[in-house]
Amino acid sequence: MTDRIKNRIALVTGAASGIGKATADLFEAEGAVVIRTDITDGDHHKLDVAKASHWRRLIDSIEYERLDIVVNNAGISPHDNIENLDMDNWNTIRGVVLDGVMLGCNHTLPLLKKSTCGAIVNVSSVAGMVGSSEYTSYGAAKAGVRNVTKSIALHCARKRYSVRCNSVHPGSIDTPILDADKAKYGEEKTIQVRTKAIPMGRLGLAREVANAILFLASDDASFITGAELVIDGGFTAR
Ligand SMILES: NC(=O)c1ccc[n+]([C@@H]2O[C@H](COP(=O)([O-])OP(=O)(O)OC[C@H]3O[C@@H](n4cnc5c(N)ncnc54)[C@H](O)[C@@H]3O)[C@@H](O)[C@H]2O)c1
Repeated sequence: MTDRIKNRIALVTGAASGIGKATADLFEAEGAVVIRTDITDGDHHKLDVAKASHWRRLIDSIEYERLDIVVNNAGISPHDNIENLDMDNWNTIRGVVLDGVMLGCNHTLPLLKKSTCGAIVNVSSVAGMVGSSEYTSYGAAKAGVRNVTKSIALHCARKRYSVRCNSVHPGSIDTPILDADKAKYGEEKTIQVRTKAIPMGRLGLAREVANAILFLASDDASFITGAELVIDGGFTAR
């Protein structure tokens, strides 16, 4: 523990699993107060990030007068390509992946503006930076996350708010988001195919993404805003 975010009030979406859970756990270990949210039922606030009414309800229920950190992490990653793409799926994916991040930033900014060390970290993907034939809708939405992050960063800087806004771009990380692929293609094949594409020769861990999110959320990143941090074992370096 380094005390980097001690006593800061952090909100994490999609905190019941994978990267969101690892981030919430790490933040708590670092002394932050963490508001965990997820669409699932459980020991956290219930929030569907795609629904503005859910965001309004959550903000009304928060007992703190400010937020210091917001991690917009919740996501889904179904496959599609330009030939089998279905408009309903496109809208669902965009709703969670892109609208969910925009709504999260929009609804939490009034509370973040009250912080002296505000930080938003939006979880995009390498699929938002490079093309991927089987992640067409997902990649388009994640590319939107990358761009909206920069617009928010510039807005906050221009207004002289103490709020930075950055995106992280994970490559293949071994979390339950891969479960559908593992069920369809088998666990070994799923890991093998993904590992082959990664120069470092292995999948990433949720904790390794959480470490990058912690860095961007902390004062160690105090002059970093509108930036994108890739955590992909070298996938996009080629
Ligand atoms: N695992 C990877 O390889 C990888 C790679 C790049 C980016 N990402 C991104 O990282 C983020 C976290 O993914 P993960 O790998 O931890 O997956 P995960 O499936 O383990 O966790 C995602 C969490 O988001 C929640 N969620 C889904 N839809 C939601 C909604 N509408 N509202 C609120 N919560 C919702 C789920 O219930 C779950 O707890 C996602 O945005 C994902 O796109 C993951």
